[in-house]
Amino acid sequence: MKERGYYAGFGGAYLPEVLVATFDELVEAFYRAKNDPSFWKEYTEIMASYSCRPTPLTFAGNLTAHFGGARIYVKREDLNHTGAHKANNVMGQGLLVKRMGKTRVIAETGAGQHGVATATMAAKFGFRCTIYMGEVDVNRQRPNVFWMERLGAEVVPVREGTRILKDAINEAFRDWVTNMDTTHYVLGTACGPHPFPEMVSYFQSIIGKEAREQILECEGRLPKRVYACVGGGSNALGVFRAFMDDPVELVGVEAGGKGLDTQEHASRLCSKDASIGVAQGYKTYFLQNSDGQMKETHSVAAGLDYVGVSPILASLKESGRVRFEAATDREVVEALSLTIRKEGLIPALESAHAFVQAFKEAPGMSPDDSIIINQSGRGDKDIFTVADAFGDPKWQAFIKAKAEEYHA
Ligand SMILES: Cc1ncc(COP(=O)(O)O)c(C=O)c1O
Repeated sequence: MKERGYYAGFGGAYLPEVLVATFDELVEAFYRAKNDPSFWKEYTEIMASYSCRPTPLTFAGNLTAHFGGARIYVKREDLNHTGAHKANNVMGQGLLVKRMGKTRVIAETGAGQHGVATATMAAKFGFRCTIYMGEVDVNRQRPNVFWMERLGAEVVPVREGTRILKDAINEAFRDWVTNMDTTHYVLGTACGPHPFPEMVSYFQSIIGKEAREQILECEGRLPKRVYACVGGGSNALGVFRAFMDDPVELVGVEAGGKGLDTQEHASRLCSKDASIGVAQGYKTYFLQNSDGQMKETHSVAAGLDYVGVSPILASLKESGRVRFEAATDREVVEALSLTIRKEGLIPALESAHAFVQAFKEAPGMSPDDSIIINQSGRGDKDIFTVADAFGDPKWQAFIKAKAEEYHA
């Protein structure tokens, strides 16, 4: 264990001896790049030319009129190349990999967005790529698996444990231990051992930097609140970081699944079911039993279905700087439906968690106030889950006809 990368006692780097040198190399490469002004310039240039940055801040006029309170703005991370904020992190890490001279990247993925983003980055930079994905997620996010394979990545379904994100992370670490010389592990969220929480949130901070400038331009003053969904915590930290020293309330929304009293959720920071522990190389709140065994989690959104949470967010919960709430699966589908109909926006199921909480609070706020919701990704990938949730008969008929066609 190294005495660094702690946030009010959370975080750290609890590593097997064999990985220490690799992490030292990564820490050094990251800080060298961070202190080199040409690196951020190179990063923002590639994000502009390849990933449509800066992403817009869209005024949601119809939703604002519908709720009759605060003026609602949406930060459009869905417009990144590959459809989510994940591109910000992978392109940054890709530039670091080039600097470190490695030739292969591996990654874990839950919703598949981070896997697609990593496979895309690997195709662009010419790296070999392997993606680990829990078998459950492979089945519920098939379109993303299809694209990862087309992009040249090997997708490995993980059949260990509960076959979701945490199991994919374990498998990726196993791979890294045996291939450190050639391989970089592109961790997809602000979790894991130091320097990942700091490094991932550093790359994601581009979201808040832009959003803060954009809202000042639109409104002439800061927003009252900023909302983001919380899986591992990268899009939330990305948008929050720029507002940390401002009088702006920051609200993180976790997966309330079937309800916080059902045990079928993935809420680490606002349920009573999580406790502090060390796993996957870092210390944070985990959904674990009294023996330290990880619990099963549930969320309609694969990208929020994770047992741990960023140590930076855990510290911000303890200090009270960020407020945490949870949205249930049912609330998420309702908020998604309303957003689609009213604004023509299709947020990812993950992002829709942030919309739920904003919709609960906007009516009670003054029309002079504004709020920002971070739309971390687009919902196209969720078509199977959402169509099931809506029980869409035309979609079901289409799938049945396709299945018959394949049988024939
Ligand atoms: C669209 C989208 N939003 C949010 C998340 C959650 O991750 P994080 O909390 O790191 O932003 C994911 C994860 O896959 C995602 O795909």
